[in-house]
Amino acid sequence: MTRQFDTVGVIGLGTMGAGIAEVLARTGRTVLAVDVDDEGLARGRGHLDHSTGRAVAKGKLTAADRARLLDRITFHTSLDALADADLVIEAVPEQLDRKADVLAALDRICGPDTVLASNTSSLSITEIGVRTGRPGKVVGMHFFNPAPVLKLVEVVRTVVTEPDVVTDVVAFAESLGKTPVVIGDRAGFIANALLFGYLNHAVRMYESRYATREDLDAAMRHGCGYPMGPLALLDLIGLDTAYEILDTMYHQSRNRLHAPAPLLKQMITAGLLGRKSGRGFYAYDGPDSPTVV
Ligand code: 3HC
Repeated sequence: MTRQFDTVGVIGLGTMGAGIAEVLARTGRTVLAVDVDDEGLARGRGHLDHSTGRAVAKGKLTAADRARLLDRITFHTSLDALADADLVIEAVPEQLDRKADVLAALDRICGPDTVLASNTSSLSITEIGVRTGRPGKVVGMHFFNPAPVLKLVEVVRTVVTEPDVVTDVVAFAESLGKTPVVIGDRAGFIANALLFGYLNHAVRMYESRYATREDLDAAMRHGCGYPMGPLALLDLIGLDTAYEILDTMYHQSRNRLHAPAPLLKQMITAGLLGRKSGRGFYAYDGPDSPTVV
């Protein structure tokens, strides 16, 4: 019998976690949203208020439906709140030990049938899963930014993930209005493995003054029909996140394509993280604002 996943936990309310919580609540799920402290919860609420407010302003959501959507989400600072979840999706920062510790804790707190999913971009689901007592019920569910907009979910199965868990998670992703693809556990899965070599190459071109940022971005938008150029997309993803993804892929494959361009590290050290810090390759008024510099 197909699992229903009516009550879903989301851990980590950054851009991705808050976006995933919104997708779940939009489709009628009860969402248990967890972050480490009140500051993290406030940040998550801010993302949700902003995103759903924008949908109301655009006439895509009524004020009443927005209120119902937000009512489906409760906020917590303890993982104990997830004891009755059918599925938990973690979206904490991209560090193996942090993610593995969260799943190991969930393994003790949740019932034996709860499926545990990681939204990791590039870390090994196998390594995270084996730190729990239920690696057969651990999968990757990798959403794309902005999660409320982009349809892809990469469902990552390991050599020990139970086949019915994969089938049920795929059906669940479809019920969220997403387009799932299934992939084995390799760094970058499908989309990031193809995308990040390209993004890194664009940084190297910019770094070597091959072309201006505007011309690099315009070339890919107008020449290839991409919705954003590579440098603008890096600002959306976050340079710190991009660096971590590249670094993980580089260490797994030793493919020079994924050796992070030195400029990325310099910009991160200087606090230029992209939209979330107000400045990356471009400068921003706010997370959704147009370029001002
Ligand atoms: N939250 C909710 N909705 C949003 C949103 C957000 N953060 N950003 C945009 N939208 C919605 C808008 O409301 C709008 O909906 P409508 O057309 O129904 O009114 C629609 O998306 C289009 O938005 P805009 O008109 O403001 O702007 P654009 O047409 O330029 O689209 C974009 C913005 C959706 C971000 C588009 O530029 C895009 O798809 N860019 C590429 C993003 C991409 O490649 N993401 C993948 C990154 S890699 C990744 O996530 C993997 C991870 O591991 C790092």
